[in-house]
Amino acid sequence: MADFAIKIEQWYKQHKRNLPWRETTNPYYIWLSEIILQQTRVEQGRGYYERFVNTFPTVQALAAASEEQVLLLWQGLGYYSRARNLHKAAQQIASLGSFPSDYKTILALPGVGPYTAAAIVSFAYEQPYAVLDGNVYRVLSRYFGIETPIDSTEGRKEFKTLADELLDKHHPALYNQAIMDFGALVCKPSGVDCALCPLCDTCFAYAQNRVQQLPVKDKKILQKTRWFSYVYVCDSEGNVLICRRTRNDIWKGLYEFFLVESLQELPLSSLQCKFPKGQWTLLKQGFIHQLTHQRLAVNFYKLELPKKDSSLQGFWVKKSELQNYALPQLLVKLMDNCCLADYFQTNSRPI
Ligand code: ADE
Repeated sequence: MADFAIKIEQWYKQHKRNLPWRETTNPYYIWLSEIILQQTRVEQGRGYYERFVNTFPTVQALAAASEEQVLLLWQGLGYYSRARNLHKAAQQIASLGSFPSDYKTILALPGVGPYTAAAIVSFAYEQPYAVLDGNVYRVLSRYFGIETPIDSTEGRKEFKTLADELLDKHHPALYNQAIMDFGALVCKPSGVDCALCPLCDTCFAYAQNRVQQLPVKDKKILQKTRWFSYVYVCDSEGNVLICRRTRNDIWKGLYEFFLVESLQELPLSSLQCKFPKGQWTLLKQGFIHQLTHQRLAVNFYKLELPKKDSSLQGFWVKKSELQNYALPQLLVKLMDNCCLADYFQTNSRPI
């Protein structure tokens, strides 16, 4: 076995984090944890993992849930297509009868890529598949001094070949966990303290003082800015207007307040003409919400109408029922920020 793998495993045995998904070989739990961890850090992921496992203890239970239930439990993690794929995949697995153990079958499930499939078959079944995620790319590029861009076809091939070679074929679960934890805790994207690293004597990037230049990436992600004008439309009886997002866009399947999207900031008058007369308040202007590939600039208004108006697009719910609808984290944040969110905690205080 390569010296590299020996050292990584030694380090892991001393420093591994105790995480609930490491205490199991149940492929369903491992799959759940991996999908959640693609979306968030370990500390936050733990709570989501526990809620999912408690609510849906088996893949059959997840398959039998409604998409809305799954989205509500996923709320706050973002990238909601992952939650929809999780649900679809659970239904496919349930119809197979049991969780598949074959790499190709697992890879064919919605939302499962080579990384997730390798994680599942190695952690659950000790099959010799090497994981290749952001942590692994970073560790390998630095340690071995590989400058091929990790987002190029050539780079992906080169790193995969190396990762497969290095894998400890007798202990794939141990090795895969070890290299990922090493990347997360020691060989971090920034703020590294290489002098403390157990591999620093033989690390290319450390010797060449190139730690911050590796790994190399080819493409710059294009950021686009979208302007969202959200209107929190309410009446005097505690009702609020919401709509469900159905288009193939961010937050598909989630609920939101009345929205008008534009390329530039929209003047209030362009909004007012879409509504009956009422009392307008600007709650927040130019609020920036950063998603992976886009920036949202948001103006948030409140419009108080004397009574529910059924001519408006969307439907009315009691404010106290809002917590039963999966809302984008942006709206939860805005409501918190603008003191509209009391009922999320108490269910009783009026705004
Ligand atoms: N990130 C992705 N998968 C992980 C795992 N199994 N343990 C810790 N961090 C992870």
